Amino acid sequence: MTAQYQVQGDVAIISLNNPPVNGLGYDTRIGITNGLEQANADAAVKAIVLTGAGKAFSGGADIREFNSPKAMQEPTLLSVILALENSAKPVVAAVHSVAMGGGLELALGCHYRIAAPGAKIALPEVKLGLIPGAGGTVRLPRVLGAEMALNLIVKGDPVNSEVLAGLPGQKLFDKLAASPESLLQEAVALAKEVAAKHADGSALPLVRKLPCKHPQGDAYFQFARNMVAGMSRNFPAPVKCVDAVENATKYKFDDALAKEREIFLALMQTPECKALRHVFAAERAASKIPDVGPEVQPREIKKVAVIGAGTMGGGITMNFLNAGIPVTMLEMKQEALNRGVEVMSKNYEAQVKKGKLKQDKYEQRMALLKTTLSYDDLKEADLIIEAVFEELGVKEQVFKKLDEVAKPGAILASNTSTLDVDKIAAFTKRPQDVVGMHFFSPANVMKLLEVVRGAKTAKDVLATVMQIAKKIKKTAVVSGVCDGFIGNRMIEQYSRQAGFLIEEGATPAQVDKAIEKFGFAMGPFRMGDLAGNDIGWAIRKRRYVEKPDMKYSKTADLLCELGRFGQKTGAGWYDYQPGKRDAIPSKLVEDMVAKHRQDLGITPRTISDQEIVQRLVYSLVNEGARILEDGIASKASDIDMVYLTGYGFPLWRGGPMQYASQVGLFNVAESMKRFARNPLDDAQFWQPAALITKLAAEGKTFG
Ligand code: NAI
Repeated sequence: MTAQYQVQGDVAIISLNNPPVNGLGYDTRIGITNGLEQANADAAVKAIVLTGAGKAFSGGADIREFNSPKAMQEPTLLSVILALENSAKPVVAAVHSVAMGGGLELALGCHYRIAAPGAKIALPEVKLGLIPGAGGTVRLPRVLGAEMALNLIVKGDPVNSEVLAGLPGQKLFDKLAASPESLLQEAVALAKEVAAKHADGSALPLVRKLPCKHPQGDAYFQFARNMVAGMSRNFPAPVKCVDAVENATKYKFDDALAKEREIFLALMQTPECKALRHVFAAERAASKIPDVGPEVQPREIKKVAVIGAGTMGGGITMNFLNAGIPVTMLEMKQEALNRGVEVMSKNYEAQVKKGKLKQDKYEQRMALLKTTLSYDDLKEADLIIEAVFEELGVKEQVFKKLDEVAKPGAILASNTSTLDVDKIAAFTKRPQDVVGMHFFSPANVMKLLEVVRGAKTAKDVLATVMQIAKKIKKTAVVSGVCDGFIGNRMIEQYSRQAGFLIEEGATPAQVDKAIEKFGFAMGPFRMGDLAGNDIGWAIRKRRYVEKPDMKYSKTADLLCELGRFGQKTGAGWYDYQPGKRDAIPSKLVEDMVAKHRQDLGITPRTISDQEIVQRLVYSLVNEGARILEDGIASKASDIDMVYLTGYGFPLWRGGPMQYASQVGLFNVAESMKRFARNPLDDAQFWQPAALITKLAAEGKTFG
């Protein structure tokens, strides 16, 4: 049973006890209804307190039950809430720490509510593409007013209990406890008080009985709907939150409740909701490495060192300073150190100017930073991250030196984006302590961290890096060693397709627009102009030597030969006006591509936006499937996390692998085979990966 029952004097206390957050799984729900029955049957009990053991009142639905029949098994949360309302003896909810989603709905079903200060109160369902489904949209407006409730429901963010308790006219909390420690005692006292008050048999208060009106309902909800629709274009749930709260003001309680349920169930079936729930699970799954269990003890990281104070070194350092972890930054020359520190200071100062960072916080952070030119100063570092030039020879020097000076057990990480982590590990006598930590630029902003697991990387090193990633607020995904790791290995195929598409007849602007309409933050050509087309050029030059058979469109090389590296040179795939970032389609590029087609004897054809999107996205999917086959990623959802957090893949589509699963792998494979028949494309690449063929034949998805 995941709820405890005890009696204190004449008050029964039901404590949810389903760690970590008292999720309202089947057993917990049964625990509550059993407790209610027991209390109501016991003549010595006059009132009931409902609370949560441990670190939460309740975090809501039990995510471990998602997609299982138990989630809907009676008593459902709606039935539990009905049982609370129908209890003949008053029920007082004692809310502390966290009351979210179903947890808050549960409290709203109680007759009285007392909250500890500092409790996080939220209805976060909208973040999963849903609306609250157990009365939240019907009850919260009755206790907070329609506008405040809608605000909470449509944003889904937690608000502190004392803030809500302080709102004029609010009926959410009958009382605010003096402290979390005194909550239970005060709840029991309140229970006794209300038991005495209702000893005469007077009706117990129910939120459902409270009025729910908005004086200018039509105008207000129309305004809210327009505003929300504008802000959440690709997400259906937020507008439905408006509908549901409006229903609460227009219909009788039970009718509005039934409508809430209808909306909830309909949203559950939308691709956006499926994608968001997938992402929610994928995010949690990413931190779990199949063969690194909870028994693996992470190493302690108290001090960090970063080698190289360039673009990446500075950003990486800021992550640790932000988390309160001291960093020693090493460079070859004092000027390089000075430059690095200046860039970081400027970055922080800009945040201070914008009001995003307090001056004293900025000073605290910078005080954690030490700089040095001497490896002797790295002796105490528990984690050393190298971010020097991308040349194996330079990495060799650095890692040999680190091997000499680093203390035993120190983790030696490389931020390399293309080099072989196993080769880097072999420069040391402790390859078990070497790992890749591939940050993305700007490293202090981008969420993604690819953790590159070398052949010899120790399990506790991985566990440590995953743990520290959380501390610096990164989404860490483990990748095996291969060229480009997960993200860049896939993006290369995507870039190749972009090149073929313009060779065959599309314009850069058409390709960009099509994929941006699909939801990417930026199309491949605008992206190239932003990042610098010379980066891809350098990679391709290497590829032409390593893989002479690999087919590339030469258009990007021709562009670079013209010196059009992108925004930094004032021209790239697009033209740019001085000081502006607006991408203007370029006549010169158009002519360059036309001439190139002529040279190759290609007659341009009209390419549909659908073909553009499919070729770009499915190229990611096919390479992603091969990455799974090769064991570079351990699960498809990891690949989705890489693309969502590092490459601007649209969140509401859940990542490339999830998207392909939703389209249906049979359909995806059929398209791939069609592309393979295009003589101007790469027939070999478009053979569907064996994994796709297999899953499609079995009617399965990547999930
Ligand atoms: P950068 O050129 O901006 O910075 C490199 C810094 O390392 C320079 O300040 C240089 O003085 C210093 N350095 C070079 N050799 C050194 C040595 N032996 N000892 C100490 N310091 C040394 O380069 P960036 O862009 O920061 O790249 C660094 C690493 O991060 C490379 O491995 C790169 O592939 C990787 N990376 C870069 C990304 C990017 O977008 N720039 C993204 C992800 C990884």
